[in-house]
Amino acid sequence: MTPSTLPTTAEALHQKLTARTAHVGIVGLGYVGLPLAVEMARAGFKTTGIDLDHRKVETIMRGESYIPDVHTRDVAEFRQAGRLFATTDPAVVSTLDTINICVPTPLRKTKDPDLSYVVSAVEMIADHLHPGQLVILESTTYPGTTDEVVRPILERGGLVAGRDFFLAFSPERVDPGNEKWTTRNVPKVVGGLTPTCSALARALYAGSIERVIDVSSPKVAEMVKLLENTFRSVNIALANEIALMCSHMKINVWEVIKAASSKPFGFMPFYPGPGLGGHCIPIDPLYLEWKSKIDGFESRFIGLADKINSGMPRFVATRTMELLNEQGKAIRGSKIHILGVTYKKDISDSRESPAIEVIKLLLGLGAEVSYSDPFVSSLTVDGQAMESVQPCREVLSSSDLAIVITNHTAFNYPEIVKNAPVVFDTRNATEGLTAKNIVRL
Ligand SMILES: NC(=O)c1ccc[n+]([C@@H]2O[C@H](COP(=O)([O-])OP(=O)(O)OC[C@H]3O[C@@H](n4cnc5c(N)ncnc54)[C@H](O)[C@@H]3O)[C@@H](O)[C@H]2O)c1
Repeated sequence: MTPSTLPTTAEALHQKLTARTAHVGIVGLGYVGLPLAVEMARAGFKTTGIDLDHRKVETIMRGESYIPDVHTRDVAEFRQAGRLFATTDPAVVSTLDTINICVPTPLRKTKDPDLSYVVSAVEMIADHLHPGQLVILESTTYPGTTDEVVRPILERGGLVAGRDFFLAFSPERVDPGNEKWTTRNVPKVVGGLTPTCSALARALYAGSIERVIDVSSPKVAEMVKLLENTFRSVNIALANEIALMCSHMKINVWEVIKAASSKPFGFMPFYPGPGLGGHCIPIDPLYLEWKSKIDGFESRFIGLADKINSGMPRFVATRTMELLNEQGKAIRGSKIHILGVTYKKDISDSRESPAIEVIKLLLGLGAEVSYSDPFVSSLTVDGQAMESVQPCREVLSSSDLAIVITNHTAFNYPEIVKNAPVVFDTRNATEGLTAKNIVRL
């Protein structure tokens, strides 16, 4: 749809978006929202972030970042230029031309979707919605959320989506810690409720994101994200099951995957590990499984993958028991040192990390657990407060066994192998080292 064919309510917004004079807003300034806000400000838009957390708001207003992938120098520059603002005040919504929603979408204890953050953010927007605004949901969620949950709330005041205001879904694909693929250069999939909604969303992102991919509806865009994450979950589960099989058959799974990767077509390597982590892969496929069940279709891959992946921390604990047993030691009273507690290497996020589950299991079995992580200075597991220590000779040689849970680049693996009596490496971080005390997953 070209600007000249847009309905008049949309034309003014389209012009503001192409001229970068629109006032854009982001609701939720976390791992997804802050990088997006910074890219919008970089594109030249006056950008205002809204968050319930006043500490985040104050940090941005001071010109500082709290997300490792976002440079403080960028936040400071855009604050100084008068292009980046943050507030806890919902009333600012009435001054915005566009609103991107980047709030959490976790699971309930029952493993059902918890849309309460999305609903409360949308209710806040609905209270201040005015004609001509564009609302885009970016939070990962099940197919149908934008149309079935978000739209009715926004239409409560009498405005109609696609006619009076505009609505789209565009999944966030950020990969924390990835320096090559950032918010700016990862293509953005956009599904508008109507062609006009899509055209406006594309115009918004065109300023800050290199490539925008149109799909025919919000539902398709929602499904795209869940296919991507389900693909990862299922393939990681396959790698984990092959690793369990190889452990049983005394085959080095890492060597197998490396050699299989030499095939130039038809194979893509996925790696086993101590369990899934982060806020996407362990959670999002279950959103899809839930919705599919409601719609009368029983999925099979998702549940099986979840079962295999969520069993990995227990496998690590059981294997640790066996390794101690081989040394004539009981796990109760043994000193176990954990290397890395974040859910993947070289990031600071320990939320949903498999390390937490492994530590919990080891503590439950009576082990004395310590840990080292250059990115996480303290951690509380099952009410027990722990502080990171340096993985020095004294710490490692006084432990009975060390487990590599996260393969941070900063660890000195040859030194770790030299000093710990046994190194249980769940990530192949010790690749290339040959020593009798290394045991790989
Ligand atoms: N972190 C990732 O790697 C990643 C990647 C892709 C997609 N996602 C998805 O993006 C969404 C956001 O994830 P995240 O990691 O940025 O979460 P986060 O927890 O880091 O940040 C969410 C922010 O939203 C704020 N918030 C919650 N409710 C609010 C409300 N009603 N009004 C204003 N602010 C509110 C919170 O205070 C928090 O600062 C989720 O749906 C997630 O699944 C995350």
